[in-house]
Amino acid sequence: MTQITIRRPDDMHLHLRDGAMLQAVAPESARDFARAIIMPNLVPPVVTGAQALAYRDRILAAAPGFMPLMTLYLTETTDPADVAAAAASGLVKAVKLYPAGATTNSHGGVRDLDRVMPVLEKMAEIGLPLCTHGEVTTPEVDIFDREAVFIDTVLDPLRRRIPELRVVMEHITTEEGVAYAAQGGNLAATITTHHLIINRNHILVGGIKPHYYCLPVAKREKHRLALRRAATSGHPAYFLGTDSAPHVDALKEHACGCAGCFTATNTMPLLAHVFDEDGALDRLEAFTALNGAAFYGLTPNEDRLTLVKETTPVAFPPKIETGAGPVTVFDPGFAVHWRVL
Ligand code: DOR
Ligand code: ZN
Repeated sequence: MTQITIRRPDDMHLHLRDGAMLQAVAPESARDFARAIIMPNLVPPVVTGAQALAYRDRILAAAPGFMPLMTLYLTETTDPADVAAAAASGLVKAVKLYPAGATTNSHGGVRDLDRVMPVLEKMAEIGLPLCTHGEVTTPEVDIFDREAVFIDTVLDPLRRRIPELRVVMEHITTEEGVAYAAQGGNLAATITTHHLIINRNHILVGGIKPHYYCLPVAKREKHRLALRRAATSGHPAYFLGTDSAPHVDALKEHACGCAGCFTATNTMPLLAHVFDEDGALDRLEAFTALNGAAFYGLTPNEDRLTLVKETTPVAFPPKIETGAGPVTVFDPGFAVHWRVL
């Protein structure tokens, strides 16, 4: 197959930031994607419905025609009534759980799940999904084990406590994550583009590669292969959330480099490459345009996106310029022949 037409995809996990960065990166996602679930970890975070409304307007101004699906950043003082009102108005599509200290701008996140039970119970009642950054932050737990430990010690107990809660395991990186999400029903998982392509060797062998550092950190090859099987399976519990997370080069190429891979610019060609390589191009639409919409109760996009396979490799810009500084575009490390028509 050298050409494929699918429904226009949605990105169910995206960081757009704010200010000059937003202006530069929003059009990169809007080029190929119709909608995106927008992460709320700004500084300060998007905590209330009013803040989400104002942020949505800033996104719409930066990328007219793109539909941002807003989320709220869960804190121990989040008001269940504010969450319910923001959901009822159609503004907010999910609430994001960041365990405090787990990742970029997560210090205002949750330390004690008991303190957010009233919010989670309200969400279960109204069917509003909880998006989880699924890593424990316990210093004793090895960083490569933090996702698996989260599933056993936080996620599974939470789901037993509130079985009706709809949960998205964001950016899963392990075979344990793949296996747990396979239950489906009111549970689903997003998978990023970059975790389908890199394993931990890409970050560490032959010199440290800060542009491959993200959280959850990429794991062993067997986990990458489990993610590939899940993404290309067509199973409704797995869908695309790129976690495209721009940081300026000065903060990536740093003694304490920020976590995040910026994939908004070339995600669809990279996914076409991956699905083509695995003989699963016929499931690219399910992963990028159907499964996520179904989980969030959205109608799939009517518009279409066509990808073509060229005989010669396609070039992507190595960086995009932003008013805040240059941002490096994710380099898969192999020649890509697919491009969006
Ligand atoms: O790599 C990441 N970058 N992982 C996250 O969880 C947050 C994100 C960011 O906001 O930079
Ligand atoms: Zn993220």
